[in-house]
Amino acid sequence: MDKYIDMHCHILPGVDDGAKDLEDTKEMLKIAYQEGIRVIIATPHHHDRRGKASIERLQRRLREVEELIDEMGIDMEIHLGMEVFFGQDILEELGEGMIATMGGSEYVLLEFSPEDDFAYIQRAVQKVQMKGYGVIIAHVERYMCLLKNIDHIRYLVEMGAYIQVNASSIIGGFTVKRFIKAMMKERLVHFVGTDAHSPNHRSPLMQKAAAYVEKKHGHDYMERIFWKNGNRVLRNENI
Ligand SMILES: [Fe+2]
Repeated sequence: MDKYIDMHCHILPGVDDGAKDLEDTKEMLKIAYQEGIRVIIATPHHHDRRGKASIERLQRRLREVEELIDEMGIDMEIHLGMEVFFGQDILEELGEGMIATMGGSEYVLLEFSPEDDFAYIQRAVQKVQMKGYGVIIAHVERYMCLLKNIDHIRYLVEMGAYIQVNASSIIGGFTVKRFIKAMMKERLVHFVGTDAHSPNHRSPLMQKAAAYVEKKHGHDYMERIFWKNGNRVLRNENI
């Protein structure tokens, strides 16, 4: 059976608008496991309104989830990351070690507002790269200036940015689905995440999206974006 890595997930309990408590986390882990997810990078929000817990607090919660995984007796690995909402303060916080990179690597998951313009996103990516980090742009299909503008995606990838899409969008509404398909045709997507926030409303579903990608773009590419690339991040290797 294929194994998947979830690169974007709000599974840590009580730190943002994701899992409310350890019970929610447990239900999400069960679903993730059934879906074939075997590695999770927990990416709680680093965002003024949605959650901004300190690294120390996040690490404590991560250890609780690791204990829970042991109790459940499932084959699942969990690492700490963050979904970092970009603002000028982020550049300072990166320097001060206040930002959790993806599993302690040199990759950062960066989020923008749906309304941010392309020049702003471009400059932000460049600024974070200049601090020495690899930038993964979170759910690229959410930004109005990028959606349907495949030229912009190509440009960002040429700049060295990496592209993450949500599993639900791969099989989602017509416009988004078609846009992601076009990006994948050119191999412009590097990572997939569930962006799960709870066991029921936005849950960690992966399998249907993986099957769709395999059917449309082949097994090798599916394996690359659902498993291999993410594991390279955890080993701090190049993509
Ligand atoms: Fe998210």
